[in-house]
Amino acid sequence: MKAVIPAAGLGTRFLPATKAVPKELLPVLNKPVIQYVVEEALEPAGVDGAVIVNSREKPQIEHYFSADPDFEAYLRDHGKDAEADAVHAAGALPVSFAYQDDPKGLGHAVLCAAGETAGEPFFVLLGDYFVPGRRMCVHMAEVSRAHGGASVIAVAPVPADQVSRYGIIAGTRAGSLAGAEAAGDEEPGAVWKVTGLVEKPAPEDAPSHLFIVGRYLLSPRIMDLLATQGPGKGGEIQLTDAMVRLLAEEEMYAVVVDPDEGCDTGTPAAWAATNARMAMRDPAFRQAFVEGLGTQKL
Ligand code: G1P
Repeated sequence: MKAVIPAAGLGTRFLPATKAVPKELLPVLNKPVIQYVVEEALEPAGVDGAVIVNSREKPQIEHYFSADPDFEAYLRDHGKDAEADAVHAAGALPVSFAYQDDPKGLGHAVLCAAGETAGEPFFVLLGDYFVPGRRMCVHMAEVSRAHGGASVIAVAPVPADQVSRYGIIAGTRAGSLAGAEAAGDEEPGAVWKVTGLVEKPAPEDAPSHLFIVGRYLLSPRIMDLLATQGPGKGGEIQLTDAMVRLLAEEEMYAVVVDPDEGCDTGTPAAWAATNARMAMRDPAFRQAFVEGLGTQKL
């Protein structure tokens, strides 16, 4: 089973940095953002590879995930074993590539990985967000198993004035994640049966306040539907629109998650905050980070 990670965007929010460095390779501490996403993607049992949907303009991402035995040997010769291990680990991750030559939307990006998913269910992880604890997709897989292999999405509550930024679900409460009995319908662990989905609705048209967080476990049927999906919101081929059609044929569930379980890297400010958060929780960085802040004349 594969996990698809769309990564063909231009990274315009990060210009001018992304003029030369793909946004996926910007580091959080000493590791590129996309490596956190790949490692998270590989966590659920049964996922044996990540498929990065790249554009041909960003060969640096492939370079990063390639083995470099000469560089590793050089580092070992110079007594830098920990660094050599880190270089080795990046090159040894089971990552393959598909290409999206035209930026036609998220649904189109996912469709570009169809040849890699082998007609099996697959995860989709949006790369602007990663979950350091790596449990979100594991929980989604549990919900899917409990419902006969159905598609599952992660959702979270969002204030009414922000619904138009996201995909929003309609549904009914269907239980809780095993071992995480949720009292409230919008509390982490609550499981919903999805009855509808709308991409970026106006507040008055939103069927709930639960938005799609960017983690999907999808039936392979979605690939057939994406192949015939016309453009939707913003003139783009929307994954949400194909999921609406999937709902007419198959069951779909949503599990409420705490969005703060993950870290946002979608804008320079969010990326900087994520760096701060990760530095504060990592004993290897925390003290130097706090000292560094203390000496800044802010
Ligand atoms: C995409 C999806 C949307 C989802 C969002 C999460 O939108 O289309 O349904 O809620 O990701 O980040 P985008 O942010 O690419 O516009």
